[in-house]
Amino acid sequence: MCGIVAYTGDQPAKGILIEGLKRLEYRGYDSSGIFIANGAPYLARAVGKVAELEHQVWNSAPEGVAGIAHTRWATHGKPSVLNAHPHGDCTGKLFLVHNGIIENYLLLKKRLLEAGHQFKSETDTEVLTHLVEAHYAGDLQAAVQKALLQVQGTFGIAVMHISQPHTVVVARRGSPIILGIGEKASLAASDASALAQHTDQVVFLEDNEMASLTPGKFSITTLDNRSVSRGTTNLDWNIESMDCGSFPHYMLKEIFEQPESVENALRGRVNHSEAVAKLGGLESVQERLLNARHLIIVSCGTSYYAGLYGRYVFETLTDLTVETELASEFRYRKLNLRQGTVVLAISQSGETADTLAALREAKRKGALVLGLVNVVGSTIARETHAGIYSHAGIEVGVASTKSFTSQLTILTLMALLIGRSRDLSYEEGHEIIRALELVPDQIREILKQAGKIRDLAEKYCHSDHFFFVGRKFQYPIALEGALKLKEIAYIHSEGYAAGEMKHGPIALIDPKFPTLALALEDGSYERVVSNMQEIRAREGKIIAITTEGNTKLGNLVDDVVYIPRTHEAVAPLLTVVPLQLFAYYCGVLLGRDVDKPRNLAKSVTVE
Ligand code: M6R
Repeated sequence: MCGIVAYTGDQPAKGILIEGLKRLEYRGYDSSGIFIANGAPYLARAVGKVAELEHQVWNSAPEGVAGIAHTRWATHGKPSVLNAHPHGDCTGKLFLVHNGIIENYLLLKKRLLEAGHQFKSETDTEVLTHLVEAHYAGDLQAAVQKALLQVQGTFGIAVMHISQPHTVVVARRGSPIILGIGEKASLAASDASALAQHTDQVVFLEDNEMASLTPGKFSITTLDNRSVSRGTTNLDWNIESMDCGSFPHYMLKEIFEQPESVENALRGRVNHSEAVAKLGGLESVQERLLNARHLIIVSCGTSYYAGLYGRYVFETLTDLTVETELASEFRYRKLNLRQGTVVLAISQSGETADTLAALREAKRKGALVLGLVNVVGSTIARETHAGIYSHAGIEVGVASTKSFTSQLTILTLMALLIGRSRDLSYEEGHEIIRALELVPDQIREILKQAGKIRDLAEKYCHSDHFFFVGRKFQYPIALEGALKLKEIAYIHSEGYAAGEMKHGPIALIDPKFPTLALALEDGSYERVVSNMQEIRAREGKIIAITTEGNTKLGNLVDDVVYIPRTHEAVAPLLTVVPLQLFAYYCGVLLGRDVDKPRNLAKSVTVE
């Protein structure tokens, strides 16, 4: 959730670290801090956005060439200068930044207090700093190693001591650390996006490993002191995609990138002559996959809603039995996985702690575990047996938008691959492919209605509550539309299967409680319309998303947005776009920070 960046090289560190923090700010943003080790040691911390820290740093930081920095999403202790990282030890010579949670910090703190250490913050991180200090006898790496052997919990850390001013020691367990190695500089970060401007040569640290970085060099050992030999990996960055360009916010830019991101998800993955999908990442497990009987999809948040869509698309195109589970629940269930069970973990970031724990549990129980992940080289991508990258490009806005439509695209391709090896006909397969290939242009058409959707947002953004309803393929989209409005505009909103309204929620309907209904002319149309009539009869306002050319809704609705006609299974890739725009414009009109909504973080690496 928080972001770490570290640098040791031949350039002034402060600009590089602040720039890195800005790239990471989407992960956590309630306070930040920086330590520069060489020259005159320097520490600065600030509450609020990185811009607050930047202001201090430009006015006061020295030109030292090595340092560590952090942007925080509070877990232990409120956002404050004292709780912000880096945390220093009693001597004022050792500094540490940390992502994760030290579970036994109270016990460790008690012992350290008894030994005379003095604490300034409420954080578990400061405990770790003093623990390293307690073991320090002139060798920072050895001290970090000894300290970490006493720690229970998760960590990604970077540590410096002023007596070794060009050395940064990093370590990880359950929270990512990636090294970036240039000719005359070495970097480390919790997210590869902070490295991109400096190098394309990266090294992924594994759990229970640590590394010592000096300019242009690195060495890795395990926490129990075995040396590890690992080369660098070349990462193909697209630095442009990390900037907002002419868009006022990343979220809007990412919504508008969806025609291209869906194209990228499809690129090279369709075999027209056989009407089947080609998914290179699954080739090594193809036989087991094609013989599977049972699929369990695990994920969180928006990726969970993609998984719910997955259930419908797999059930429609294959004969698999499919369950979709919240990873946070799945990981603690008593699992009795049948033979031939495949578990598919879906995650944009590839670092979500609950999803990672769920896939580890499934692996332990013998399932074939697959990943559908956006961030290349992320932990989930590396820990699954095989998988597919969604290739949506870097998604900076905290709200998932383009990664969601890419996930839906790939789930459809996976279902097509399995379906065509069973009873899905060539014609049916071909119809799905044709529909998918039309999606990028159809999204372009929908995006042309952004102005109209902004007007709708203006009309409805002062509502205190909202329902989103849909059936079958549109039910997960109703849930996703409600989540987007909650997280971006802070409007209370609930997604429901339209048929559920009469079982309770309809009691809330009155003229001030609007409903957004997904009412496409598909197999569920008549049933959704009758649910809308029930809402209308209670004087509820209705905005409908319906199929282009449908003129039958008349007075049943207050407002309508049209989307191009398509295959029922592919329509969610279109209907979600106006809902993303609606949430975005409501957020902007209400003055919300749409790219960094309060209390949230892009990548949730704590349980
Ligand atoms: O990186 P992941 O896809 O695993 O993240 C899962 C959720 O934390 C994420 O989708 C979250 O719900 C987003 N803020 C939704 O916009």
